[in-house]
Amino acid sequence: MTSLKFLAISGSLRRASHNTGLLRILPSLAPSGVAIDLYEGIGNLPLFNEDLETLPAPSAVAELRARVAAADGVLIATPEYNSSIPGSLMNALDWLSRPVGASALLGKPVAVLGASPSQFGTARAQLVLRQVLHRIQAQVLDHPEVTVFRSYGRFDSEGAFLRDAMTEQLLGELLTGLVRMSRTDASARAV
Ligand SMILES: Cc1cc2nc3c(=O)[nH]c(=O)nc-3n(C[C@H](O)[C@H](O)[C@H](O)COP(=O)(O)O)c2cc1C
Repeated sequence: MTSLKFLAISGSLRRASHNTGLLRILPSLAPSGVAIDLYEGIGNLPLFNEDLETLPAPSAVAELRARVAAADGVLIATPEYNSSIPGSLMNALDWLSRPVGASALLGKPVAVLGASPSQFGTARAQLVLRQVLHRIQAQVLDHPEVTVFRSYGRFDSEGAFLRDAMTEQLLGELLTGLVRMSRTDASARAV
């Protein structure tokens, strides 16, 4: 079976982040032949400024773009801040949206997920994230919607996932969906 490489991007800078904690367990749930690399560098990116759109790009930007470009698919775990996505994640997406017409996310299979302490589990942030990804012309997986609600009961104080069957099943389905989308995408490119 063809092997696939996914990049998992955490939208949180918090040390004990529940969203990063979710991404950390993905390798244990992934189908065989799928490797998942965790990106935790959004805090190293400069604030987006068109004056910085130079060649070569700032090194942290170039690194992120290269890692996204090399991935068959991307997973983005977003926290919810004020019913939206954190500014640091939006900053990363702005960098990834450029150059227009040749961005690393153009046509890239992407799955979204998120965890928050509320009963909505980032549902509102994920709508915003989907809208931004749609504008960037990534291919976004529609189903399942992984909204990990009341997250404080599901992670310890260090941000490690305490394991629950429902969340693990949803994450497994998310990975299967992204595998399917990435394989279809790879076959289309091969034609
Ligand atoms: C500035 C700010 C705004 C927040 N707004 C929301 C919100 O609108 N909805 C929500 O469910 N949680 C909100 N939260 C709580 C975060 O969901 C919570 O801190 C979560 O654990 C952050 O994700 P992380 O654990 O991955 O860092 C907010 C937190 C901060 C710091």
